[in-house]
Amino acid sequence: MEVIYPYANIIHLILAIIFLGYVFTDLVIISALKGKFGKENDKKIEQTLGAKSFKIFPIALLFIVLSGGMMMSKYINSTAGFFETDLQKILVVKITLASIIILGVLYNLFTKLTGRKKIAFMQNHFHKLVIVLGFFIVVCAKMMFVA
Ligand code: HEM
Repeated sequence: MEVIYPYANIIHLILAIIFLGYVFTDLVIISALKGKFGKENDKKIEQTLGAKSFKIFPIALLFIVLSGGMMMSKYINSTAGFFETDLQKILVVKITLASIIILGVLYNLFTKLTGRKKIAFMQNHFHKLVIVLGFFIVVCAKMMFVA
């Protein structure tokens, strides 16, 4: 574990930057396109971006979880315990916040693959939730080692 840990950490950090970076760009930059070029173009823009992001971000999140899980096993295991130290408690909070994002992405994948309509909150506000959770996830990631 000690040998692969630094590699898991680098992969985790780079994918976290890409994942949260995309959500931030969608919220702050891409949203500026909405309503500017007519309903028809709006739809085309959303479909074009959706098709691209659908291929990249679920996989990025999968590898964030896999690399995170690998690292987690160093701090939470049958020897070290689960919820004893401050580091473990903050890590569990971090993983809980990340689980909300993971469930949301799984829900979006499910609606996309089954052709169902997303509920209004997920259609209009999920990315806002991800960026807020993402902020606290990163804070937890750093607080784990100073607490
Ligand atoms: C959207 C989900 C997630 C994001 C955005 C995220 C983001 C981050 C970031 C930015 C760091 C700091 C890396 C560094 O400073 O080197 C980190 C560290 C860490 N993350 Fe995550 N993470 C996510 C999910 C997870 C999950 C699901 C797990 C466990 C199953 C996890 C376990 C860890 C661990 C153990 C560390 C500490 C690594 C270290 O500094 O030694 N993360 N995470």
